[in-house]
Amino acid sequence: MERKRIIRTLISFSLLAALVAILYISQTRDSSNPHASIPQDTWIHGPKGHGYAVLNNQQPWKQCYTCHEKKGLGGESYCQSCHDQAGLTQDVIPKKPE
Ligand code: HEC
Ligand code: HEC
Repeated sequence: MERKRIIRTLISFSLLAALVAILYISQTRDSSNPHASIPQDTWIHGPKGHGYAVLNNQQPWKQCYTCHEKKGLGGESYCQSCHDQAGLTQDVIPKKPE
């Protein structure tokens, strides 16, 4: 059955291609970034995105800035500069108690 063999070969090839694509995507992600697995739009704007995370742990100076600074992004100023660009008017970032 020549037809069946061709179809089977086609299916095997597409499965292989899908596997390669998945491996490729997982390799290009930064594994040390805890939110790399969250789609950017969800993390920025989603109801359970970064704003929610920050408002619920309330301590970005502990959970966020250290790594962002290590990655060369910057601490609070990194957050604030994007908020400014996004036109966020209120001060939403919780401050570290002195
Ligand atoms: C272990 C490292 C690490 C920690 C911890 C971390 N981040 Fe990040 N974050 C990164 C890296 C790396 C980037 C830049 C790459 C990217 O855009 O994903 C980033 C980018 C971001 C961005 C911008 C995303 C974009 O697509 O422009 C936001 C918002 C953010 N982080 C919020 C947070 C918040 C809030 C916390 C704490 C609750 C946090 N991060 C903790 C590594 C970290
Ligand atoms: C790449 C842009 C970007 C970066 C970087 C960013 N934010 Fe935001 N943030 C936003 C936007 C846009 C909103 C408004 C929410 C929306 O659009 O749904 C927001 C909202 C918030 C809110 C308010 C959520 C609410 O429901 O009131 C908090 C708190 C917050 N961000 C904290 C942080 C902190 C802390 C960091 C840095 C660790 C950070 N953000 C970095 C874009 C950003």
